[in-house]
Amino acid sequence: MANDEAGGSSQPMLSVRGLVKHFPLKKDLLGRSAGVVRAVDGVSFDVFKGETLGVVGESGCGKSTTARLLMQLITPDQGELVFDGQTVGSKSLPLKDYRRQAQMVFQDSYASLNPRLTMEDSIAFAPMVHGLPEREAIERARDLLERVGLAPQRFAERYPHELSGGQRQRVNIARALALQSRLIILDEAVSALDKSVEAQVLNLLLDLKEAFGLTYIFISHDLNVVRYMSDRVMVMYLGQVVEVGDSETLFKHAAHPYTQALLSSIPTLDPDKRTETPPLAGDPPNRSTHPAAVAFTPAVCTPKPFAAKRCPCWPQPNTVSKWPAGCMWRALRTPGHPLVRARSNLWRSWHENGHLNTGICRHPPVACHLHRRQEARAGRFWCGLARAAR
Ligand SMILES: Nc1ncnc2c1ncn2[C@@H]1O[C@H](COP(=O)(O)OP(=O)(O)OP(=O)(O)O)[C@@H](O)[C@H]1O
Ligand SMILES: [Mg+2]
Repeated sequence: MANDEAGGSSQPMLSVRGLVKHFPLKKDLLGRSAGVVRAVDGVSFDVFKGETLGVVGESGCGKSTTARLLMQLITPDQGELVFDGQTVGSKSLPLKDYRRQAQMVFQDSYASLNPRLTMEDSIAFAPMVHGLPEREAIERARDLLERVGLAPQRFAERYPHELSGGQRQRVNIARALALQSRLIILDEAVSALDKSVEAQVLNLLLDLKEAFGLTYIFISHDLNVVRYMSDRVMVMYLGQVVEVGDSETLFKHAAHPYTQALLSSIPTLDPDKRTETPPLAGDPPNRSTHPAAVAFTPAVCTPKPFAAKRCPCWPQPNTVSKWPAGCMWRALRTPGHPLVRARSNLWRSWHENGHLNTGICRHPPVACHLHRRQEARAGRFWCGLARAAR
């Protein structure tokens, strides 16, 4: 390896402290900003040398934004990155030197390659920018193509559109290795591949990790793949880290209710463990209005059967009146919610009896004040609809 260990073996490869990124929403006609999207909201974690840190969390929780912040592709509002004991962007580790040691593989294998460069030129580009003579850079590119299982005599001269998705992703991996980087961030790097190619690429990543002594941050939606690849797993929710732990321990004994709900959504072949309704449903709360403090607090709405559902992260009762439509919309996307049951009863009675059952206002009260208010409001809505239909 070209890069010596600056901080010693016990120094984390990357320490992330208090990373924050808020995207401002578009301004209205009067120039007033409509708020911010809290994409990453105070994320701190360590990545140790030689490990694979899996990152999981539902869509929109801020995984890719965190990855882009780690690569300094976007500037954080707050926070600090310490790479092997040296602060990124400081005199001891300028951004260019950091980028040589940390590389990223993006999900979209096609968009991340320059369509005008052949595969060997794509791989050789970064080493040349960092001062390697062209002949040596091309030699290194051909060597890496060989390492990722693409014969240089067949693939070196091809353009991105002349390769399959799996082959392109191998080129992207080769490109990430071209600077002899120590940390590779893989953002959904295998998600777009079919299962057989995915397995090949995953095994390739494991082989390369061993051969080059790499450290991975592995972002994926596929929890089984994360379990297979990772030494530790970090769970994100609404731009925050809710749990980090050793992979096997976390998958067997998740401590946080959100992690438990996420893990229980893994499909199983065991007929005794099948779940009829998904533990999480609907989209996450609106990132621009959602107060960070209520992120998945189970105490907000504990009574069964809502304990593991989305309700803990809905706005507090005193904020409901500001977003009635949003709240009801969320309620209607939660399987098992009284409103969802009421709606399906309504349409069933319409189909079976030819008339609407207007008795839906009388569904049983639930313990949560928030639900009662939504229920009453929605009950009035459906009754009005039923009256109009008659
Ligand atoms: N440039 C941007 N401007 C405004 N909002 C953004 C921007 N980039 C991301 N976001 C918002 O930040 C949030 C987090 O996005 P991000 O891409 O990090 O999610 P993710 O966890 O990677 O999701 P997925 O699993 O679907 O890839 C989302 O709500 C997204 O809409
Ligand atoms: Mg993403």
